[in-house]
Amino acid sequence: MAILSERAKHAVNALHEENAIAEQLERKGKKVIRLNQGDPPLYFPTPEYMIEEHVRALRERKTSYAQFSGEPELKEAIAKRYRKHGLRLGHEDVVVTAGVSEALQFLNQSLIDRGDGAILFRPYYAPYVPHLRISGGAPVFENYDEKDGWNIELGHVEGSLRRMRKEGRLRKVKYMLITNPNNPTGTVLRHSVIKEIVDLASEYGVLLVSDEIYDEIVYNGAAFTSIGRLARGVPHVILNGASKNFDATGLRVGYAVVPEHDKASEAVKLAFSNFASIRISANRPAQLALAAAMENGAQHNEAVTRMTIGIAQRVNYAMKLLKENPHLSTVQPNGAFYLFPRIDLKAMRMGDDATFTRKLLLEEHVQVVRGSGFGSPGHFRMIALPPKEDLELAIKRINRFCKRHAR
Ligand SMILES: Cc1ncc(COP(=O)(O)O)c(C=O)c1O
Repeated sequence: MAILSERAKHAVNALHEENAIAEQLERKGKKVIRLNQGDPPLYFPTPEYMIEEHVRALRERKTSYAQFSGEPELKEAIAKRYRKHGLRLGHEDVVVTAGVSEALQFLNQSLIDRGDGAILFRPYYAPYVPHLRISGGAPVFENYDEKDGWNIELGHVEGSLRRMRKEGRLRKVKYMLITNPNNPTGTVLRHSVIKEIVDLASEYGVLLVSDEIYDEIVYNGAAFTSIGRLARGVPHVILNGASKNFDATGLRVGYAVVPEHDKASEAVKLAFSNFASIRISANRPAQLALAAAMENGAQHNEAVTRMTIGIAQRVNYAMKLLKENPHLSTVQPNGAFYLFPRIDLKAMRMGDDATFTRKLLLEEHVQVVRGSGFGSPGHFRMIALPPKEDLELAIKRINRFCKRHAR
């Protein structure tokens, strides 16, 4: 009898797949530049006032369980935050989770049965697929369009929705999930694209989910639009949290917002809240720290602005250096802190992106992630969080590597 469940095999994350090689190299005394995981506090320290709020919550012995669907202080702060996106949220419209990661679990466990599907756009944030598959679902893939700055191929999406409806398959499609700003491409979706995707979700009756975890890390003049602003009367879910905007990945606080009051939205809220009740509580001191940070608009704005300026400088510097490499082409990111270059594998005589990333790590000691891990083979993802000197060294090594392998 096999000890493991069938679903256990789906719990994989391409991000960490080369850690063992990197650690082995480090044990041999090599300096490995790790550009695989997007963990901002490692490069931009979490703001002092947030640390103080967390410590204060501990000192005040706020160490009991939190309310299962989230502390009222945090729900209030989230409701205020979304007023700027034109939403009027009640406490029952918000469920607090242990990061967006847990919200993804709630989403899939609440909506997906074996044989169901969800529309995901390639390249996707890698864990979307395992979360879906673990619940027995299968992805229906659509694409962000690289030629259009990784915006959405709307014509193609509409064609697929129409076909699925005609063939009776649309009933099984439980949600459509977009990421804005995007990981791994750094694209901030155009306002018109958000509007059209909302219209499609409405016309075809598919729940729209938007992962907006990078919504304040936007630069180069780009403008972010939350689906909340445009999806009035259309069932939707917004995912967000402390990890990126508040520069506090390790606090493990996130949330799902379900603003509408139609039958489907009310059912989703109740299911999320029921799932929250069986895992009892998210971290209480961390929720109180996030609530205080959200309420402290002045200090938060200063901190996130400073971090975003720093990130923009690093991303744009990395772009400049990558442009010197004729074997890579990269769409300019205007949000988050990732770069997603396309690799000329043919010129480099390499079969696939996994070969490229493995050889790069072994030969040049730079760890990046294969694009196929995000559903887009022939690319790799690197973070642009480290200081300029490290980015410069890493990209010099990448460029040297490409030159050496190219015909
Ligand atoms: C698009 C996206 N969603 C969700 C997450 C995970 O967020 P959390 O730390 O809140 O679990 C990440 C982390 O990198 C991400 O990039």
